Amino acid sequence: MIIAIDGPAAAGKSTSAKLLAERLNFLYLDTGAMYRCIALSVLEHKIDIYDESSLKDFISSFKLELKTVDGSPDFLVNGSSVSKKIRTTSISKKVSEISAIPAIREYMVSLQRSFAKNSNCVVEGRDIGTVVFPEAEIKFFIIASVEVRAQRRKLELQNMGEKISLKKLRHDIKARDKYDSERSHSPLKKAINAIKIDTTKMNINEQVNYMISHVNLKKIGKNNK
Ligand code: DC
Repeated sequence: MIIAIDGPAAAGKSTSAKLLAERLNFLYLDTGAMYRCIALSVLEHKIDIYDESSLKDFISSFKLELKTVDGSPDFLVNGSSVSKKIRTTSISKKVSEISAIPAIREYMVSLQRSFAKNSNCVVEGRDIGTVVFPEAEIKFFIIASVEVRAQRRKLELQNMGEKISLKKLRHDIKARDKYDSERSHSPLKKAINAIKIDTTKMNINEQVNYMISHVNLKKIGKNNK
């Protein structure tokens, strides 16, 4: 079974997707992290993403692996763990632009399909229910107000030792929403059959319980067929 979770930045997708996967004993695939990994590598190698041939060479030498360490997913780029490095604000700022490049998306989508192949998986991103797994059995589209999302991001960054004002975070989130929703290739969009969840006034437990109730309904429906 594939459970697709899409929605804008900092709406609560990752935390709920991870907990949902734990509760269901499913694999958790964070596709945003995958785009962050390639963005990190593009920046480290100073790749001109608008130069077709250097981008092609870069993609063919880029190796991304997903491992589980102490129950948590860990991404390795060319053999080195990057799970911490990909969360910095400098990556957050550049990742939307880099992830909008069609050659990068094509490569990532095939990797995402291969990572989730033959397993029960909670897959989280922007285009999972629309493009990557349009046949997913359950699709959620998670939203929250910009204010709440900025507050959540601030806390997350604080825990990593980064300090950034709410005003700046609000601005960055709005900019990223605009870029992710308006790009021509696989924009952020709710799949018509996705269940919309507004998490502005929900805590994480309420969110996950609500999702589990939909999964159970789906299972009952399947058993009755
Ligand atoms: O979920 P996140 O904030 O870690 O995602 C980082 C960026 O990756 C986000 O700006 C949009 C992009 N992304 C995407 O284009 N498609 C996905 N399936 C997941 C993320």
